[in-house]
Amino acid sequence: MTERLIAHRATQSTQWHIHWRIPALIGFAFFMGVVFALLQHFLYIYLHHRHIEDEDKKFRWVLYGRALAYLAKVAFGGCVVIIFRQRIWRTFRNRALSVLSIDQIFGATEDPSLFANWEAVSSAPIVVIIALVIWLIPLATIIFSPGALTFGNYLEAETLQLTLPTINFTMETIKDWRNPVKLPDGSNKRSVMFYNTTDIDGVKPGWFDYYDQPSAELRRIAILLAYSNMDHPNIAQGARQDNCGGPYNCTYEQTFLGPGYQCAEVARGTGDAGKLTEYGAPFNMSSLVPEGRYVFLGDVDRGTYAQPQAGEFRKGPGGVPVGDPDPSLGVFKSEPVLWIGYAVNSTEWLAPDDPLAKNWTHRYDPAIIRCVHMETKYTVKWDYVEPLFHSTTKREYLTPVVDTNFTRRDNGEPNETDPQPESNWISPRDDVPLYKKTAAYHAIGEMFRDFLRGHVDLEPPIPGPYYAQVYSDVTKTRLVGKNSEPLANLTDEIEEFYSDMVLSLFSAPEMLAIDTEKLTVNRSRIQSSFVYVPERLWQCYAPVIFVTLVIMLFGAFTIWEDGTTFSVGFSRILVTTRNTTLDDISRGACLGNDPFPMELMHTRLKFGVLNEGNDVEYMGGDGYQSVGHCAFGVASEVGPIRRGVPYAGLPDSGLKRRAKTETATEKDNFD
Ligand SMILES: *[C@@H]1O[C@H](CO)[C@@H](O)[C@H](O)[C@H]1NC(C)=O
Ligand SMILES: *[C@@H]1O[C@H](CO)[C@@H](O)[C@H](O)[C@H]1NC(C)=O
Ligand SMILES: *[C@@H]1O[C@H](CO)[C@@H](O)[C@H](O)[C@H]1NC(C)=O
Ligand SMILES: *[C@@H]1O[C@H](CO)[C@@H](O)[C@H](O)[C@H]1NC(C)=O
Ligand SMILES: *[C@@H]1O[C@H](CO)[C@@H](O)[C@H](O)[C@H]1NC(C)=O
Ligand SMILES: *[C@@H]1O[C@H](CO)[C@@H](O)[C@H](O)[C@H]1NC(C)=O
Ligand SMILES: *[C@@H]1O[C@H](CO)[C@@H](O)[C@H](O)[C@H]1NC(C)=O
Repeated sequence: MTERLIAHRATQSTQWHIHWRIPALIGFAFFMGVVFALLQHFLYIYLHHRHIEDEDKKFRWVLYGRALAYLAKVAFGGCVVIIFRQRIWRTFRNRALSVLSIDQIFGATEDPSLFANWEAVSSAPIVVIIALVIWLIPLATIIFSPGALTFGNYLEAETLQLTLPTINFTMETIKDWRNPVKLPDGSNKRSVMFYNTTDIDGVKPGWFDYYDQPSAELRRIAILLAYSNMDHPNIAQGARQDNCGGPYNCTYEQTFLGPGYQCAEVARGTGDAGKLTEYGAPFNMSSLVPEGRYVFLGDVDRGTYAQPQAGEFRKGPGGVPVGDPDPSLGVFKSEPVLWIGYAVNSTEWLAPDDPLAKNWTHRYDPAIIRCVHMETKYTVKWDYVEPLFHSTTKREYLTPVVDTNFTRRDNGEPNETDPQPESNWISPRDDVPLYKKTAAYHAIGEMFRDFLRGHVDLEPPIPGPYYAQVYSDVTKTRLVGKNSEPLANLTDEIEEFYSDMVLSLFSAPEMLAIDTEKLTVNRSRIQSSFVYVPERLWQCYAPVIFVTLVIMLFGAFTIWEDGTTFSVGFSRILVTTRNTTLDDISRGACLGNDPFPMELMHTRLKFGVLNEGNDVEYMGGDGYQSVGHCAFGVASEVGPIRRGVPYAGLPDSGLKRRAKTETATEKDNFD
């Protein structure tokens, strides 16, 4: 077997061509490195701002990223290592290096002591730099590149359509209390008012329902708002979560129609008559502080819906009137106008000669305002910001709830029993939906007026004592300050307080007036998630790719120059150390044990052609029969390897010696 191999090999010489394997490997390794880096990038992009609840899954995703980083390291590292192996042979050919350096260069990929070896660093800088790159690539890829993916909080913002509660009085206008509207849980929806009727069964010809009073639910809503003393409407518990569709911050805007009080100041200042007579005001400045006693005066029931509507009712429930109902039964002839007088301490001292200084120390500014109950277009912007909410309300006043005015008596005073025009009276017999809407608005207005009715008196500080006497529910609301005196900007406060009362219907989703609609919601939340910073990843990979590419081009150039490719396997070392000089100087070190004799370590060796001069005699006539032999040797005995020369093997090896005896006769004959 061996003999046959020897016989075959005897005819072989070096192959001076570049085998495709090494260049292909280099290219493939580089390509795979880039692919893994890109895969890591895309994985991180996929994870960016992704909220993953499960800790286990999170952990796994991180590991996948690291695995890709590791694979990228293997690829780039592999690419550079192959070139490193190409290049070291060039170094061995160019320079005589100590055995120690040669050892360290061969082991440079596992053993960093090469970098502390001045001989290697100074005489083989390129090889050392490439080795250094091999050591640094894992740092950039495995250690730093996964740092591009971190955990963090980010603001997740989106705009979407949600079904949200709104106010729509249409259901109030079409609903008959005999057929309640059911909620999903089986309970009934609640109206804002209670009705009386002319026929409980609703079958008699000409029957109709007429307004009785605000419903218990509306009372609860109104009283809760007034007593809460908050400067915002009451909203349902968990409204933010429900309306934003989860634990978000959200904003949205909605518009709807509802009742609203439009207020205007008609007179201001002591003695000012303003437009009081024009509008038929029931009182003037002489009633208000400082001329009069009232620091607040609410006259809010002029021409209101009469309670009760009929003189006599049948026994039992329903408020069925006895006999034929009066034509005016249940008719809204007018909607009361709010007449509010109030005075505010200007905190300015009165001049001593002022007639008012007899009883007052500071100037009081009285004012009279008039509020009309209007159908109003509300535009509400809800801003739910954890843990609070804000609502900004814009009101556009459309038409009076009941558009009638009192006629005047001969003396100019309003005739409250005769609002005109009669065509604007709203009767329960004709337009039932309009009647019910008016009644619903009236009910809410009635709850509001309950709080404004009455007066707050002020005892002047001179002769004193100075104190307020309260004959009104207004002091239970946010409309007055701590000293029971009304707020300075009462005109706006009244409008807003009423609008908040209307918006407080949202706190009771069981109300008929609460409907749903689709609205565009902007919402956001702080999400803990992966955060990917691509710059950080490419700050790691860009240098690696660039340096690897440079080394790769350099390697390609080296291979082209060398005309062949190299490797560092044991076999290659085996065949490049067949040199008798080495045998001679390494006598006693054949065990390969450690430590290697020091004097051998410092022997300088070079890779080259042994005894080239002596080989001439073997150059046969056909020119390719050279047996020039490449091996490590001491610098003096090796010559440079020349490209294209068909080096074959040992000139005076055992093969030759063995062959000499066997083929002596043959050889002689040829010669
Ligand atoms: C109010 O509700 C009625 C019936 O439920 C519906 O036809 C109408 O479109 C709603 N109005 C608004 C402004 O959503
Ligand atoms: C104010 O009203 C009173 C009656 O309440 C009346 O006597 C007085 O003349 C009125 N003052 C003015 C300025 O109209
Ligand atoms: C409704 O009927 C009741 C009797 O059942 C009566 O006490 C009440 O005053 C009536 N309401 C109106 C507005 O007439
Ligand atoms: C008006 O305000 C001033 C300054 O705050 C205060 O000293 C004075 O007592 C007030 N007057 C009355 C009557 O409350
Ligand atoms: C005003 O003060 C005088 C004494 O200074 C007093 O006699 C009079 O009763 C006071 N007027 C009022 C309305 O308190
Ligand atoms: C009622 O009076 C107000 C204010 O004077 C006026 O604007 C309105 O047109 C009147 N309404 C009717 C129906 O006359
Ligand atoms: C809502 O906004 C507030 C204030 O900006 C913030 O403190 C809170 O964390 C936010 N909540 C959510 C769920 O985003």
